[in-house]
Amino acid sequence: MSTHFKQAPHKCVSILCCWTDVHELRGCSCWYLFLACISASQPAYSVPGPIEVSDEVLGALALPSQSHVAAEFVPIFGDCLRMTREVVMSTKGQPFLISGSGTLGWDQVAANLIQPGENALVLHSGYFGDSFTDCLETYGAKVDQVKAEIGAAVSQDALEAALKAKNYRLVTMTHVDTSTGVLTDAKAVAETVQRVSPDTLVILDGVCSVASEELRMDAWGIDVVLTASQKGLGVPPGLSIVVASPAAIKVFESRTAPIGSYYASWKKWLPIMKAYESGKPAYFATPPVNLIYAYHESLTQITKKNPSLAERIALHRAASAQVKDTAAALGLKQVALDPASAANGMTALYYPEGLKAADVVPKFAEQGVVVAGGLHAEIKDRYFRIGHMGVTAVDAQRGDMQRVTDALKAVFASSK
Ligand SMILES: Cc1ncc(COP(=O)(O)O)c(C=O)c1O
Repeated sequence: MSTHFKQAPHKCVSILCCWTDVHELRGCSCWYLFLACISASQPAYSVPGPIEVSDEVLGALALPSQSHVAAEFVPIFGDCLRMTREVVMSTKGQPFLISGSGTLGWDQVAANLIQPGENALVLHSGYFGDSFTDCLETYGAKVDQVKAEIGAAVSQDALEAALKAKNYRLVTMTHVDTSTGVLTDAKAVAETVQRVSPDTLVILDGVCSVASEELRMDAWGIDVVLTASQKGLGVPPGLSIVVASPAAIKVFESRTAPIGSYYASWKKWLPIMKAYESGKPAYFATPPVNLIYAYHESLTQITKKNPSLAERIALHRAASAQVKDTAAALGLKQVALDPASAANGMTALYYPEGLKAADVVPKFAEQGVVVAGGLHAEIKDRYFRIGHMGVTAVDAQRGDMQRVTDALKAVFASSK
């Protein structure tokens, strides 16, 4: 986009609005110009979700309303199911795309894969381990946690000891805990579970990792990947995305206790997903049609265009290194204790001694960059979080990463 639009985006939008009816712009190059102007008028959104989305994704959201059983929509939904498999690197998994947020993924696991009174083990590397625990207990599971120290992931030794002490129906991990920026070694967790307790299902909360961290569902032996639209997948919030392995589907099919949820029941959703994938519409509850179109657009960019998925992951690593190196040079300390356990899609940084959120977060806003405060209850007021997922990390032309690192330098130079 030209500097002119960046400098006067609001003017540009109003000129376009006067020039023609907004509805007439849809689908033509003016429409994308219009969306680019709107995006450029906003500060760079650098929180760890919801993230910035591409103009093409914004454009897909603005399509006219359409029925979920329309002939044009059915293959779009089917493609989304197939491309979801590609993103998590699975050929055998069963995807579920359901209107809802990431939390609905926890409900799907808790409602369909564990029966009241069965044991679940939660590997706790931050805030989201507690919420997943809460959700599992809501459905009657007996939950134990193995808790890592703040800034660390649970060790394989601690996991092995827990698995040897009790039989668990499932083990959950938060691939990236968004409250700490800690990355759990999902491959190692799955290996340990398969070696020590092969019948235990391995559940991965990938809300803050899918499409920004390396993830090989089939090769690593993950039974469920649950995620959401608003982070690495590059779409606004509203879509719960779950992929279940054949072993997980078998556990679901052989359960004897009734499913304690109506909306999250795979008995309702499995036939719907199968129908759409085979090219037929089906109805249980109305899917978010426009969001599915937007998801289709983003998945097409991720799986069919340049950069490839592998290159995309590498670009997230590079963006992450850029932020983490800049922060280290400014003397800022990461919440993640070990660089090998630090996420690539976000960075959590302690404030320098004597500073708090009110001294720092508004200064980022003055630099045109929105960052997030702390979330982990025990250190909430001592740190902040920067997101660098999706187009922010992948599309260099946007200049988001430069804005973020420039803002880091400006904020902390002026705080000295
Ligand atoms: C790791 C993780 N899991 C689960 C969730 C819950 O997702 P949602 O807020 O979309 O319900 C989040 C939200 O940020 C998250 O970061």
